[in-house]
Parts: sequence; C-alpha cells; structure tokens
Amino acid sequence: SKPKITIVGSINMDLITVTDQVAAAGETVSGTHFETLFGGKGANQAIAASRLGADVSMISKVGDDAFGAEMIKNFEDNGVVTDGIAVEEKTPSGIANIIVSDKDNRIIIIAGANGQVDKAHVDNYTSVIKNSDMVLLQFEIPMNTIRHTLDICRKEEIPVIINPAPVTELEREYFEAATYITPNEHERAQLFKMREDGLPEYYEKLITTQGAQGASYFNDGREILIPPKNVDVVDTTGAGDTFNAAFAVAIAEGRTVEEAIYFANDAAGLAVRKLGAQSGMPMREEM
Ligand code: RIB
Ligand code: NA
Repeated sequence: SKPKITIVGSINMDLITVTDQVAAAGETVSGTHFETLFGGKGANQAIAASRLGADVSMISKVGDDAFGAEMIKNFEDNGVVTDGIAVEEKTPSGIANIIVSDKDNRIIIIAGANGQVDKAHVDNYTSVIKNSDMVLLQFEIPMNTIRHTLDICRKEEIPVIINPAPVTELEREYFEAATYITPNEHERAQLFKMREDGLPEYYEKLITTQGAQGASYFNDGREILIPPKNVDVVDTTGAGDTFNAAFAVAIAEGRTVEEAIYFANDAAGLAVRKLGAQSGMPMREEM
C-alpha cells in the first residue's frame, strides 16, 4: 500500500526572474524573462512525494488572495489532500522572490500566511499526523510550530525527517526527536558541531545533500558519498525538496538508507532539468 506522508510546512508562489547579469547596488539591468511558478519548501516536498506515489497530506495556510486559490488548486491537481490547508483572512500568501542566473540562485522569502501556521492549527490535524508513516518538516514556518509538531511525533512515535532549511537554530532535544536530518553542507556546518572523534553531532541521522556531488550518509562512522547519475541542470531551485520527498517515500516504503539516497538522487536529477521548483519533479513511472 502507499505510504502516508504528512508535511507541516510552507506554501509559496515563486516569482522567478531569469537573468544573465545580477544587478549590483544602485544598478539596473535587463533580465531574460519572468515566470510565476508554484513553490515553497513544504509544498514542493508534498508535490514531489505525491508524484512519487505517496498518499500526501499538507498542513499549512495560504492567504485570501489569488495566489492562495491557485496554490490550493495545484495541490488538488497533484493529488495532495488539502483538508489541512486553511485560508487566512486579510493575509497575503507566502511568496519567494527568486533570481536565477547561470552563476547561482538568490531567494528572498516573505512568509505571509506561512507565518500564521501556529500550534493551534497543527492541533486541528493531530489525527492526520498520528496516522502518518512519515512526517516531513522544513524551517519556513514558525519554529514554535516545528517544536510542537516534533513533540507530537515523539509522543506518538511517528518517524520524522527534519530538513533544516533555511538554516535556523533549534534546541538539541528537538534534533534528537528526528529520525533523519537532511541539511545541505552549509546548513550542516552551521548547525552541527564536530565531536572530539571527528564526527558531526547526530551523524547517525545525517543525510547531507551536496549539490552536484550527490548526497552522503554515515555507515559505521564513515561518511559515504553517493553521486548522482544525471546533472543536466537548468534550475536547481527545489532540488533539495525533491531529494527530501523521494528519500522519505523510499524510507517509508521500507528501503535501506543507501537505496533511498540513490532513489532521491535520481528524482532530484530529473527535477533540475526544468525551470521552477515543481516543473521537473518526476512521476513514479518516470523513475
Ligand atoms: O527550496 C526551494 C523553495 O525555497 C522555493 O520554491 C522557494 O519558494 C523557497 O521557499
Ligand atoms: Na527545477
């Protein structure tokens, strides 16, 4: 049967400007083109997990604007259960201002309704969380809501993946509640100290995404890097989200960590071929 995955996280509309040159302070440049595409780390992970064959529920909020309505429809179109998404009145939907150049991506987020995803909202859906095979969390909603959700998962013994992005401090006891923690290299360096034996804190739980290099895990205290097959890159926005979703699906289906990383690398490798976080996310049949 399909694994049940619940995401408590953000939903954004991504306002994407593609440009050859990035403007310096006080400078104006002409870009190449502009697109409005679905994004938000929570939403991206929900859509990717659903396309990969999981039963996905999204717990979040959108604003009472046109973006909010479009974003709810996008979940429906992708088979994600939207009962846990509330429309917050007099609040704008979350947006991400994204500049994509051939050198890098730059992102500015305005939380909007994501900033109103509070403990009381999560409490309305504890039964959904309790019935999950896996819960996925990112750091684009208030940290108190993250803590509260981790408390529920710990109490109910629900496996949970923390994707600590964008990088934000969290008390150790909450990282301890995670089954896996999935930082990129920068997030890992910022959040986890090196122990005296040369291993990072929580190394047993760490799955580190390393961009074009692939992703690593620790086996018997040794870090093993699994490289990706495909790196035909148009836009890496959301690659980490696809990786997280695919890793969660594979683990929830009972695969080993190593198998799950191969699967997640493949999914992320397909996702980066198209502009936008969700456009290239593969269906299970494409894998
Ligand atoms: O992880 C990529 C996402 O980060 C984008 O879709 C954007 O919305 C930001 O939240
Ligand atoms: Na993409």
